[in-house]
Amino acid sequence: MAPLKHLLGIEPLHPTQITEILDLSERYVTLNRAVHKHNDALAGLTQINMFFENSTRTQASFELAGKRLGADVMNMAMQASSVKKGETLIDTAVTLNAMHPDLLVVRHPHSGAVDLLAQKVNCAVLNAGDGRHEHPTQALLDALTIRRAKGRLHRLTIAICGDIAHSRVARSNIMLLGKMENRVRLVGPPTLMPSGIEHFGVEVVENMEEGLKDADVVMMLRLQKERMDGGFIPSEREYYHRFGLDSAKLKHAKPDAIVMHPGPMNRGVEIDGEIADDLNRSVIQEQVEMGVAVRMAAMDLLMQTRRASMKPQGVMV
Ligand code: NCD
Repeated sequence: MAPLKHLLGIEPLHPTQITEILDLSERYVTLNRAVHKHNDALAGLTQINMFFENSTRTQASFELAGKRLGADVMNMAMQASSVKKGETLIDTAVTLNAMHPDLLVVRHPHSGAVDLLAQKVNCAVLNAGDGRHEHPTQALLDALTIRRAKGRLHRLTIAICGDIAHSRVARSNIMLLGKMENRVRLVGPPTLMPSGIEHFGVEVVENMEEGLKDADVVMMLRLQKERMDGGFIPSEREYYHRFGLDSAKLKHAKPDAIVMHPGPMNRGVEIDGEIADDLNRSVIQEQVEMGVAVRMAAMDLLMQTRRASMKPQGVMV
């Protein structure tokens, strides 16, 4: 199995690599629940977080993950950076690269931007979400949450519901869950389904009752208004009525089905607040917890590859 140099998406990963990341994440879940939450997996290494899109949980999660592994972590305030003066993404990355970081964690509004950046720098690059393309650590943390709740990560029926078209979370999850041999059902209005959906190896269903039938996992997605240029849904009220998860719709899923959401949530638009807060069904807070552990595991593995490719004095071979 090829060592992990960058983590740009789920698409190139082999199922055994996914399992390896999840198994290591379990060890980090334990560490994160201990009083002393540190190890030195990234000691001496520099991690730079470059978020070109707003983020609360993902950026906090990567910062905490890096600090717990002993890295020097720097958060670039991209809104206040030279990008505002017209510098291109690549110039910014190449400039930072000259300061010898070991890892760049990048979120960008354009699909493919993070892959491009990875070709221009000689450190490891981790995609923290690019446009509507991929968000690999979100799919991995979702997988870990599912595996812990269901005791396995195969042969499950998983309904991914809502705004699939604009969602990198959905895309990465479809790939990961497919690779692990689950049955994936996409539920939502045709206007929110991506084109070419028939090549994804999934079922597509237009109503929640049918889509949630016998589901083990119900994954709700945010309506990504910032990526829409009008006209995708009639009104939020109508959308909630047809596609918002409430207790009546959830009854169609298995009695022990779990409810997930990557956050940030629009309560009363895609999900009823009471369901989101129901600890018997909702694993939304656990997803956040798993996020830190999965990011620690992914960064640990990337940096193992990097250390192995460097001479002791720090020169790349
Ligand atoms: C997701 C994202 O940014 O793609 N959020 C996240 O990373 N927790 C989903 C979203 O913004 O709706």
